[in-house]
Amino acid sequence: MKFGDFAKIKSLQTPTGFKENLQRLGLPMPCDDIVGSGPASPLGASLSAGPFTIGNRFAIQPMEGWDCFEDGKPSDNTIRRWRNFGLSGAKMIWGGEAVAVRHDGRANPNQLMMTADNQSAIAQLRTTLVAAHREAMGDDNGLVIGLQLTHSGRFCKPNSKVTMEPRILYRHPILDRKFGVAADHPLLTDGDIRALIDDYVIAARRAWDCGYQFVDLKHCHGYLGHEFLSAKTRPGDFGGSLENRTRFLRELTSGIRAAAPGLEIGVRVSIADLVPFKPDPEESEPDSLGPGVPDDFSQSLPYRYGFGTDESAPVTIDLTEPRAFLGIVEGLGIQLINITLGSPYYNPHLTRPALYPPSDGYKPPEDPLVGVMRHLETVRDLKSSFPGLVFMGSGYTYLQEFLPHVAQAVVREGWVDLVGLGRMVLAYPELPADVLSGRGMQRKRLCRTFSDCTTAPRNGMVSGCYPLDPHYKKSPAMAVLTQVKKAANLS
Ligand SMILES: Cc1cc2nc3c(=O)[nH]c(=O)nc-3n(C[C@H](O)[C@H](O)[C@H](O)COP(=O)(O)O)c2cc1C
Ligand code: SF4
Repeated sequence: MKFGDFAKIKSLQTPTGFKENLQRLGLPMPCDDIVGSGPASPLGASLSAGPFTIGNRFAIQPMEGWDCFEDGKPSDNTIRRWRNFGLSGAKMIWGGEAVAVRHDGRANPNQLMMTADNQSAIAQLRTTLVAAHREAMGDDNGLVIGLQLTHSGRFCKPNSKVTMEPRILYRHPILDRKFGVAADHPLLTDGDIRALIDDYVIAARRAWDCGYQFVDLKHCHGYLGHEFLSAKTRPGDFGGSLENRTRFLRELTSGIRAAAPGLEIGVRVSIADLVPFKPDPEESEPDSLGPGVPDDFSQSLPYRYGFGTDESAPVTIDLTEPRAFLGIVEGLGIQLINITLGSPYYNPHLTRPALYPPSDGYKPPEDPLVGVMRHLETVRDLKSSFPGLVFMGSGYTYLQEFLPHVAQAVVREGWVDLVGLGRMVLAYPELPADVLSGRGMQRKRLCRTFSDCTTAPRNGMVSGCYPLDPHYKKSPAMAVLTQVKKAANLS
């Protein structure tokens, strides 16, 4: 099947049409015909998670906007986004957005950063969110809010929107080439890592003082935490065996528990990865991206540069190590797990199933519903092995009209505990509240996975839903984005 052949979700009209399409694709995705509302419905039911009772099954994924001030304080755009997270009615706010624990680890010069000076502004993001949530839902009972802590590792751009300043743990034969990391680029030393752990602990304590109930120790999407998990070729305390590769997480956990005893810990993890993908050169034109194909890995076998990646066939997931990882996480007494896949930098179709590629991506190599199914099935598989962990899933936005139908079915059938929403909430923040109240969805506001929220920041602009959110649609950046998309033949 090729790009143009994928049925548009909008055209499927009804759950029956959607299910017929699933059947054509051979995807065993559960989908309910009727979606319930209220606290007795599957999505409205509360969930017990350690010390928390989470008031419903909708959750908001962390999403940054490349829109803070250069000192790492939130701007009006940042505050607006957090307010929208509160208006959503979702009772789990997983992390808000990636917050750098120090300057050199920022993914862009406008990333939120947890410093002493910024602490009160980051506390206000939480209070803004809580106030908006009360406005939408009447109270804040069962609302749980965490903060995602990060160091961007290989993808740091702390000082300029266009200049990568990578901090790497090991040499990656494909990513080093793809992102221009020089052969003599220094690796972070074990001493550097220990100093970074101290910075995480300080940031976590600040998050606790701000009123956040948990911190997410981000281990996903190719950033530093994730890179530890694949540091199989790294010598020393933090590489090689899985025990060493999880030392960062274990030391973070013990340090944070000592510094902020009441603070819970969660982990968002790219539980499986594949080799980097690129636009097929055979099918790319100078102004048009081809469909994604795996980068050449023939010289890199066995492939010892992935986590949850089959070493002999790295275009295939292997959950052996991810299961061992979850066993370690469970042994640490961490219960909150947010499962995601791959990286938006080098295999975005895994992370964010989408019909339209961002400017640095490629056309979908598969029907994006296959990508959604990969997320659902991976979580189902792991949930059945670790019933005591609380699993939040990702990648639901592409379901569009049928998001609530599938979400209800997977929660009802026990595949997942919390349904994480990413892009959909940028386009249509109130979707969870509309579904839970029985008002029904506003179809015109549904995210159609145009990827502008990624194309914009990749080209130096703030992120946001340019096609559907009037705040961005009417902004001066819209004209620039239109030009960028025209030049890349994406409009
Ligand atoms: C604009 C944008 C910003 C994002 N920022 C983050 C982030 O800060 N931390 C993170 O873990 N994931 C981030 N993500 C990934 C999302 O949390 C989510 O995993 C992804 O969009 C897939 O979910 P969806 O299909 O509901 O959009 C971001 C995604 C988008 C589109
Ligand atoms: S820009 Fe809007 S419609 Fe496009 S993917 Fe992002 S949230 Fe969805």
